[in-house]
Amino acid sequence: MSNPIVYCENLVRIYRTEETEVLALQGLDISIEKGELVALIGASGSGKSTFLNILGGLDKPSAGNIFVDGVDLSKLTDKEMLEYKRSTVSFIWQNSARNLIPYLSAIENVVLPMEILGEKPDYKKAQELLDLVGIGDRADSKLFMLSGGEQQRVAIAMALTNEPKLLLADEPTGAVDNATATLILDLFRKINTELGITVIIVTHDLKLSAKVDRVIKIRDGRTSTEYLRLDKEDNGGNFEHTGNSATHQEYVVVDRVGRLQIPKEMLSRANIKPMSRVKIEFNEKGQIVLIPSE
Ligand SMILES: Nc1ncnc2c1ncn2[C@@H]1O[C@H](COP(=O)(O)OP(=O)(O)O)[C@@H](O)[C@H]1O
Ligand SMILES: [Mg+2]
Repeated sequence: MSNPIVYCENLVRIYRTEETEVLALQGLDISIEKGELVALIGASGSGKSTFLNILGGLDKPSAGNIFVDGVDLSKLTDKEMLEYKRSTVSFIWQNSARNLIPYLSAIENVVLPMEILGEKPDYKKAQELLDLVGIGDRADSKLFMLSGGEQQRVAIAMALTNEPKLLLADEPTGAVDNATATLILDLFRKINTELGITVIIVTHDLKLSAKVDRVIKIRDGRTSTEYLRLDKEDNGGNFEHTGNSATHQEYVVVDRVGRLQIPKEMLSRANIKPMSRVKIEFNEKGQIVLIPSE
């Protein structure tokens, strides 16, 4: 890893209530390079949103290290955190359009963040952003006149006004139909390549996963496996039909101290039982082989 924009190590987030303690993240290790387009997948409750919220400065880790663009997020004062949120990150949610104002036009919505920050609204820049997201011709339409997918694009244009280095999208296509979801994912790719913004997308949709450079899978609040693209060609989003192996190769991640977390399915396939001893051998190619104890 040469130039990570996101580097987190042993990240832990515990939610405590009077009766319960939820380990939302239990030692997450993730490194993301500048300019990457990454999908984050994992079952519901695996900690995806918790991780994104920490990256976005909306939540704080209970332990561990997290650096974004060289900044140690756990050391920021409130004022520095505010500045970080203004200048470094932007967020898109499934229902981002709910944060928009229905009776304002698309372009008036896009300039809102500038007005909120007390800046002079830059309509030229707002128009450029609407052009970029493909709805430049709807700039003067009232928001409520636009479709769900178009509204989500307005929200994306709005999220780009602060020229973020990192765009965080938490299930951004959860509320739109498949065709619109594809358009929106293509748009994230465009934002990634044309503006050079690093993009992290949480998604359930494996079709979308096929369109990104790398898929990171979280299990139980830990990084477990990664899928790297075999080729950079667009596979037309057929991840779902062809299976992972056609477009991506699965890897297990080794952490800094050499620990390996092997997914349950793989352990059971290899007949390795939890809490059992495993013999480690090298084969003739010098590769590690794990052998379950009898
Ligand atoms: N504010 C909170 N208070 C208590 N528990 C929470 C809170 N937010 C999330 N959790 C719990 O943390 C775990 C991870 O949640 P989350 O990050 O939302 O998962 P995901 O986005 O992958 O579905 C879940 O068990 C969830 O119930
Ligand atoms: Mg979530």
